[in-house]
Order: sequence, then structure tokens, then C-alpha cells
Amino acid sequence: MEQVWLFCVLLVFVASLVNAEVHFHEFIIQETPVKRLCRVHNSITVNGQFPGPTLKVRNGDSLVITAINKAQYNISLHWHGIKQMRNPWADGPEYITQCPIKPGGSYTYRFNIEEQEGTLWWHAHSRWLRATVYGALIIRPPLSSPHYPFPVLPKREFTLLLGEWWDRNPMDVLNMAQFTGAAPNVSDAFTINGQPGDFYRCSSQETLRFLVGSGETVLLRVINSGLNQELFFGVANHKLTVVAADASYTKPFSTNVIMLGPGQTTDVLLTADQPPAHYYMAAHAYNSANAPFDNTTTTAILEYKDAPCVTSQSQARAIPAQLPGFNDTATAAAFTAQMKSPSKVEVPLEVDEDLFFTVGLGLFNCPTPNTQRCQGPNGTRFTASINNVSFVFPKRNSIMQAYYQGTPAGVFTTDFPPVPPTTFDYTGNVSRGLWQPTRGTKAYKLKYKSKVQVILQDTSIVTIENHPMHLHGYEFYVVGTGIGNFNANKDTSSFNLIDPPRRNTIGTPPGGWIAIRFVADNPGVWLMHCHIDAHIFWGLAMVFLVENGEGHLQSVQSPPLDLPQC
Ligand code: C2O
Repeated sequence: MEQVWLFCVLLVFVASLVNAEVHFHEFIIQETPVKRLCRVHNSITVNGQFPGPTLKVRNGDSLVITAINKAQYNISLHWHGIKQMRNPWADGPEYITQCPIKPGGSYTYRFNIEEQEGTLWWHAHSRWLRATVYGALIIRPPLSSPHYPFPVLPKREFTLLLGEWWDRNPMDVLNMAQFTGAAPNVSDAFTINGQPGDFYRCSSQETLRFLVGSGETVLLRVINSGLNQELFFGVANHKLTVVAADASYTKPFSTNVIMLGPGQTTDVLLTADQPPAHYYMAAHAYNSANAPFDNTTTTAILEYKDAPCVTSQSQARAIPAQLPGFNDTATAAAFTAQMKSPSKVEVPLEVDEDLFFTVGLGLFNCPTPNTQRCQGPNGTRFTASINNVSFVFPKRNSIMQAYYQGTPAGVFTTDFPPVPPTTFDYTGNVSRGLWQPTRGTKAYKLKYKSKVQVILQDTSIVTIENHPMHLHGYEFYVVGTGIGNFNANKDTSSFNLIDPPRRNTIGTPPGGWIAIRFVADNPGVWLMHCHIDAHIFWGLAMVFLVENGEGHLQSVQSPPLDLPQC
């Protein structure tokens, strides 16, 4: 207790010196009645709010968030995109950096915001609880230089959390899929800040309205907090100027539509330069896979303050937004290709670790196909893998705790393969013999400060797909991308090593590859996974174990005393 107290005093003291603030919050995780699509569900929420509270901080501030679990599920919270330097204990993924907080338990997450500005978010990192346990985490510039580096300074800011809603308990949807081996049910609605909007039953009364004055420029912070679906987002008749993504500024560019994979954020400027009226802001699926998806559209309204009143029902509610077709990969790719850092950045030019990871789905054959537990394609069970290893979350301890205590046996091994076990035509017609991965809890060890390149190669096993790959504890540069199989001899020369975008989540193009680079300067255990939750439990994940450097400041901090035990 004394240590905690001392820590707080010290934190407040240090913070006051540099004009930074410490923000204290209590997050009570509890069941709350939430009515959507005409039905009330007892959803898991934070402080009874859905979506959860917005955290607003400045670059350089600290957060102290006490999570109190009053729900009936194990839970942990993740601060998506926060680097957590030397502090994996606050990262949150259950069984990776911490054991979950048990019902009745609590845990205090303490972390600093260091050299990050923009839009991030937080969410539960336990099973499918993040379907309702999520919120925005907004980092503004420090008071010492409070202005955004944007072409126009926004008059107002709006945060738009794009979510997915099931007309069932999302945990039941997951349990059912885990039992049957089939794909989980798709969502019943998409939402903007928890509201589906005008095109769903029992929803239009609560459609969100964002008020703007004619001529004003506003900042929209758009977050894909959905579980399983990449989304297109646009505003009727309005151009969007992209200025940041994943809490890194970008070279501004103008676009009609943006695409975000689950986990990604995009900040855009919008100028209210159209005739005063009501305009739909809308999102619907970008579906890159050959698989069922939720084809509904969520909307909110951009309402000009001086718009004429809508008097009769016969008048149109709002001007409709035009979104690309569900499978418009060309538009998605063209959008992503425009992302660049604002100026020259420090990308590793040489690499120490040259990693090649195949990412994709798979199918496990069943001894007796088509039984209750084998309801996947042709009586199989769905799976997914990276380099043919289908990741299994440990149960007895978290990987970080086991590593720190020196007791990895029975929890994880460090033999994750740097390349796939066999070379094949990854995006071609893959022989059925290569569709079954092996199961394992394997980490890949990285030396402190090693320069890492990872090629994330989508496969065509079961289906090609955009997999939004998220790396914990880091931001990385996206130096290259292409369709088909990566070819080192030919493709490396086209890498952008000048001003590539910095991200924490990036999608593989369906049937293509993406190249990322980072310096392993954050010791600890860091999960990398597909941010489609339907793919995580199938095993589309792996772990980097970044070793300590020399001395105290290059080593993982000691764990907090209240760190949950398994
Ligand atoms: Cu946003 Cu591992 O998560």
C-alpha cells in the first residue's frame, strides 16, 4: 500500500514539473440493461455507459485507471496503441501480459503517454467482451505546444466509435462458435457511438446528430471498434481530409471515403461547405473475404445549424451518403496507399531480423466429420494461424508473468518459426494437405534494439482476406505492400523508406502482403494478432518476446503489487 501511495505522490510531483497531468479514473465493469433493435440486453459496460467513457489526455500525461470487476466474467482492459514503454504490465491482453481480473477482483492500470498524439481507444481484451466494453482515448498535444499541425484548425471535434451489435449476448455467440467449429454469427447492426441509426428497427429516435455551423471545419476522430468487420465510412456530399491515423499524423490528403479495419483509427477534417441541410454520415462493411457478413448500414446525421427545419415525414430525413460496394478492394487499397508520414521519418534501413509470416485461415479435419462439434465447411472446424502455428492462449499463467518469474515450462515456448515450415504458392491454389496448422503457444525472441522487418503474407487457404494485423507495445512503419506472393528480390527495391506511414494496425491486402519495420526498443511480451475477433480465437496470433537491454532503463519495470494472478 505504502509503495502505491509513494508512487502516486511521486507521479503527481514529476507531472507538475513538466506541466503534465495525472488522470485518475474508476472503471466499474458491470452488467447494464441496454436497449437496441427493440430488445433489452444485459450488456457488460464500464460505469453503466455504452460505449464506455472517453479518456481525454495530453501527450506527456499519465493515466491511473482502477478496473473493478463486478461482472460475472473474467476481464482485462487494453489501451490500444499505447506503447507502454517497459511496462507490459499495463497492456492488458489476458494470459499474455496479465492474468484476467476475476469477478469481484480489481486491478489498477498505471501508464504514461509518451510521444503520442491523436486518436486511440481502449477495449476489453478478454474473449468477446470488447463488443460492449470499449471507449475512445484521445491524446491532444501538450499545453506547451497545444496546436494541431493541420492545414486548418478545427472549430469542433467529434469522436465516432464505429461498433458492431449482436441481438444476443456476444459471449454466447462466441461460445457457440467455439463449440460447433463453424464461423460465429455475423452482427445484427453496426453502430456509431452505440447507436445503429435510421435504417434499423426501433432505432431512428436515437440517431445521433452532430451539429455544425456553415463554413466551419470540424475534426472527426473515427475509430473502428467493431469486432469483426472492416468498414467504409463517408459523409454525404462532403470531402474528408485525412490528417492522422492510429495516433500518428499523416500527410493530409482528400478523399470521399475512408476504410478502417477493426482496431484502426483515422482523423479527418471536414469543412461544412455545402448548402445547409442534413447529411448522412454512414458506415457499412468492406468485405474482402468469401464469407457471410453483416450487410447493413449505420448512420448518424451531420446537421447544419442553419438547415431548414424538417417539418413533415414526407420530406427526406437526410441526404444519403454514397459508399463503395461491399467488395470494393480497389477503393480500399487506393485509400490505404495514400497514407504517408508528414515528412521524412527514421525507418531502419538495414534489418537484423528478416521475418516472413504467412497469415490466414485453415480447417481442422475431424475424426468424424459433421458431428455437433464439426460444423465448419465439409464437416471440419475453422482455425487460423501464423506460419502454420495456430496460437493457443495459455490458461495457467500469463506469458509475461511466466517469463518474468522464470517459469515458462507448460506456459509457452520460444520456438516460433521466422519463416513458414514449407514454401508454397501462398495466394494460389493451395493443396488441402497444407490447410491444417499445428497448435502451440510460441513466442519469437527479439534482442533489445534489434531492427525488425516482418512481411505479413495473406494466404488463400479457405479464403483470401484483409487481416488487420495489430502489434502491441509498438508503432511500426508500413514500408511496402503488394498483391500476390512477396518476392524479396523484386519487391524490396520499391519500399518507401522515406515517409512511410506509422501505424499500430495494418490490413494485409486480400491475397497480398504488407511489409512493416520497427526497432525492438520496448522490452516485454507483446502480442501480434489479427484484430478480427473471430480470427483470434481460431489462433491468428503470435507473441514477440523482446529481451531486456543493459541496465535499468532498458529493462521491464517490476510488476505492480496488485497484478492479478491466475
Ligand atoms: Cu485492440 Cu490486442 O488489441
